[in-house]
Amino acid sequence: PYPTYARMRRESPVCQVDPGGMWAVSRHDDVLRVLKDPQRFSSQGFRDITNPPWLGGNPFADSMLVMDPPQHGRLRVLVQKAFGAAAMARLEPRVRELCRQAVADLPRGRPVDMMQPFALRIPAAVISELLGLDPQHSPRLKHWADLLTGGVTTVRPEEEERKQRARDAVAEVRAYFGDVLDARAREPAGTDLISELKQARVEGEALSKDELIAFMVLLLVGGIETVVHLLGSSLVVLREHPEVWAQLRADRSRIPAFLEEVLRYEPPLQAAPRLTTEDVEVGGVRLPKGASVLVLMGSATRDEAHFPDGDRFNLSRPGPQNLPFGHGIHFCLGAQLARLEGRLALEALLDAFRHLESAPEPMTWHRTLLVRGPATLPLVLNP
Ligand code: HEM
Repeated sequence: PYPTYARMRRESPVCQVDPGGMWAVSRHDDVLRVLKDPQRFSSQGFRDITNPPWLGGNPFADSMLVMDPPQHGRLRVLVQKAFGAAAMARLEPRVRELCRQAVADLPRGRPVDMMQPFALRIPAAVISELLGLDPQHSPRLKHWADLLTGGVTTVRPEEEERKQRARDAVAEVRAYFGDVLDARAREPAGTDLISELKQARVEGEALSKDELIAFMVLLLVGGIETVVHLLGSSLVVLREHPEVWAQLRADRSRIPAFLEEVLRYEPPLQAAPRLTTEDVEVGGVRLPKGASVLVLMGSATRDEAHFPDGDRFNLSRPGPQNLPFGHGIHFCLGAQLARLEGRLALEALLDAFRHLESAPEPMTWHRTLLVRGPATLPLVLNP
């Protein structure tokens, strides 16, 4: 996508992708300007596309990601603490252990597609841990997350079978998390996220069961696929830059800077959708009320005006790069968790292997509008 983004930034930084359709915003400063203004650029646009009438209510469409102030703020305040520095420090030993287990199970000296056993396994296990779910169920989490997002937004009107699959997923997810919450209600409260959320109060008010389920679904959607691609794209960079692998092996303290540059170079979430609530001007272009706007973080982080030589991976580039996690009121709740997972996953890999090389079979990219990263990534790892 990057040459296309570069042309957009140069030739028409705020453009309508097709007549009557979505608008795309590609320059760094315009992207920030939109994300800073939730009053005029509403997040509810995403709610409409993930919640078509035939689905009968997508729990994801009730999550705070697609809410505007003041409802958004009420929920955000409740969950913020559970993702702060103290909570991350508490989680760190367990995440390290999950990363070490995943790396210990990787085959040595023969080709392995790293996406399932490494890039997916780690974030799915971490979300299970965070929510206190049975680890055996973690493969199902990603499956549900996919069905409730892409599995809904890409369905054509005649595709009855796919609609039914999405409806089944909604019913399964509601039943599964409903049971989890009921079971939790019978036990004494623990220190896991769900227990904390059940006890949290804002102005004396607790979260309803539906609100809790919507939040759990948001964590599945927001916290798995994104980290999958942070880990996947990290491996792509390491495969292409053996000197960077050597630098990280020699000095683990450079891992955080490496991750920031991967986030800039290959933002896992390439874009965020918004809906204008009134006529509004961006980058000299007037958008009408009700316009769908796609904010391109994938373009903003390569904007030459902010990132000289932006198409080059540069381990020494000054960071951190917060924009890949969004900006303003919806700034990623899990940014510190994602960084923690990235660091510990790479540390485990660097400790276990001396060499990382491409396998004979080529890799493939995941092709969707919003998410970018490898779909398959065969590598050979040698101790
Ligand atoms: C929001 C990116 C990992 C939970 C966001 C947004 C971005 C983003 C760009 C803002 C979207 C918008 O403004 O419309 C990423 C990236 C990640 C990552 C690149 C990994 C590298 C995670 C993780 C979790 C998480 C691990 C949780 C376990 C959330 C939540 C929101 C969010 C709950 C909604 C916040 C709100 O609406 O206030 N993320 N994310 N994310 N993310 Fe992440």
